[in-house]
Amino acid sequence: MIVVLKNQIKNIIEAYFDDKYEKDIEIITEEPKKLSLGDIAIPSFSVVKVLRKPPVEVANEIKATLENSNLPLAKIEVVGGYVNIFLDKEKMAGDILYNAIKNDEKYASSTIGNGKTMVLDYSSPNIAKSFSIGHLRSTVIGNSLKLILQKCGYNTVAINYIGDWGTQFGKMIVAIEKWGNIEEIKKDPINILSELYVRINNEEKEHPELAEEAREAFRKIELGEQKYVDMWKWIRQESLKESEQIYDLLDVNFDSFNGEAFFNDKMQRVIDILENKKLLKEDQGAQIVDLGEDIPPALIKRSDGGSLYITRDLAAVMWRKETYNADKLLYVVGNEQKLHFIQLKNVIEKMDLPYADDICHINFGLVLKDGKKMSTRKGNVVKLYDILIQAIEAAKNQIEEKNPDLPNKDDVAKKVGVGAVIFNDLKNYRALDYEFDVNQMVKFEGQTGPYLQYTGVRIASIIRNQNIDLTNLDLSLFDKEHYYEVIKLVGDFDDVITDAAKEYAPSIIARYLLDLASSFNKFYSIERINTEDEKIRNTNFALAKAVRIVLNEGLRLLGIKYLEKM
Ligand code: ARG
Repeated sequence: MIVVLKNQIKNIIEAYFDDKYEKDIEIITEEPKKLSLGDIAIPSFSVVKVLRKPPVEVANEIKATLENSNLPLAKIEVVGGYVNIFLDKEKMAGDILYNAIKNDEKYASSTIGNGKTMVLDYSSPNIAKSFSIGHLRSTVIGNSLKLILQKCGYNTVAINYIGDWGTQFGKMIVAIEKWGNIEEIKKDPINILSELYVRINNEEKEHPELAEEAREAFRKIELGEQKYVDMWKWIRQESLKESEQIYDLLDVNFDSFNGEAFFNDKMQRVIDILENKKLLKEDQGAQIVDLGEDIPPALIKRSDGGSLYITRDLAAVMWRKETYNADKLLYVVGNEQKLHFIQLKNVIEKMDLPYADDICHINFGLVLKDGKKMSTRKGNVVKLYDILIQAIEAAKNQIEEKNPDLPNKDDVAKKVGVGAVIFNDLKNYRALDYEFDVNQMVKFEGQTGPYLQYTGVRIASIIRNQNIDLTNLDLSLFDKEHYYEVIKLVGDFDDVITDAAKEYAPSIIARYLLDLASSFNKFYSIERINTEDEKIRNTNFALAKAVRIVLNEGLRLLGIKYLEKM
């Protein structure tokens, strides 16, 4: 809201100087730290410099211009070369309340993305290996970005670019042939396949020849030997089940599962362009594209003719651009792949394709356990799914302790536990590492998802079955600081969402929701909401309802469920 107002003020004054003096002058708006200096301040120096008039004169012109506008301003003071603007808090509060309550879950939607298509590549696990905590990050961040972009009017395409190609399939085939039994595996594919995968990785340490056998098996898939291709298909289908189990819990979905294998027959175009443009060079039998001094060359074809990750990604860039008429291609992938995406962009540029700049690597940091990189594979069979189940159990314990008579306890525990994991991830700026502590993240107090759900539930119980008459409010209450603080935050929601969309950073929304919840809780500790005075009561209920609307919608944008009771 304040950002919108600042823009309106800026536009009105710039138009005035343009009209009157035919000068294009940039107006600066500030938010003073001291309340006595107003809510928004405008220094006059940028105008003074161009018009060569005394600062006070300029400031008075600005003041007069604003007084003629119908913006919600209460008072405008000229102090030195500054114009200090005090907002009409009552009018502002009335507008925000009305807006939020009338629009409900549509509140703070925008149209900035209308007509634009964003393709998001996220989750993208390497199946046959187990679903890693890094892929959980990608899933959670990508899903939230999709929802945020949709809220801003963008058309989105969610792609799960599954890693369904690579030597891990060769390993799996060797392991199944040596120690497995198809009928047994079918009974419990998720666990048995991952045990086999762990086993072959362990045995490989003693028997390095297994790695060679695995490569050989994968070669046979690549060469299209029927028996191996059939095995690959089967393993692919069975190992996707682990990921699907996790997507069900998180309630995320995708528009496409076209993974790496899908691009196997679409790479020739890339090679042709690279050859035509004389970009391919031979290097120890392999084919590479040289990317200059600062960037290591991109390996396009292995010396044995096998294809590579980047080659499939190049084909996928072209395909996505064309198929979806995409404006941007977003890749939600960990920091470790920074170089890969730099190379991808650079090769696309060298190919003279006009969309290198549309490739955006939405990078993220590691998940740590006791300060060390958390791992769900390497010998121990701790599965991500089990970790989510642990979070749900921890949530259930909290509920048993706090509200043992709650109906639908299991459903609530699921929403709280899963929400806790998601929030714990999204509250951190994505590029940073964070620590994973299940017991901490499910607490109902502190900077947690359950804290937000709980605040929402408290509000729900306050306003349940109350009639709120928006024509009978006492807006003068919003001159009080604890009222104003809450409504101002409610009014900021649209800016927060557009910022999060611009920065591809759900954490901006997560942090904001924490501020909103704590300012509401402070308000609630000061004010009796259900009070005798009808006008005050109505205003309090309206404010509580507006906060509930923002909390619900904010949680939804993060991919977290809100609750009626918990
Ligand atoms: N499967 C890859 C991995 O786990 C991530 C894929 C990311 N997307 C892409 N288009 N490269 O490392």
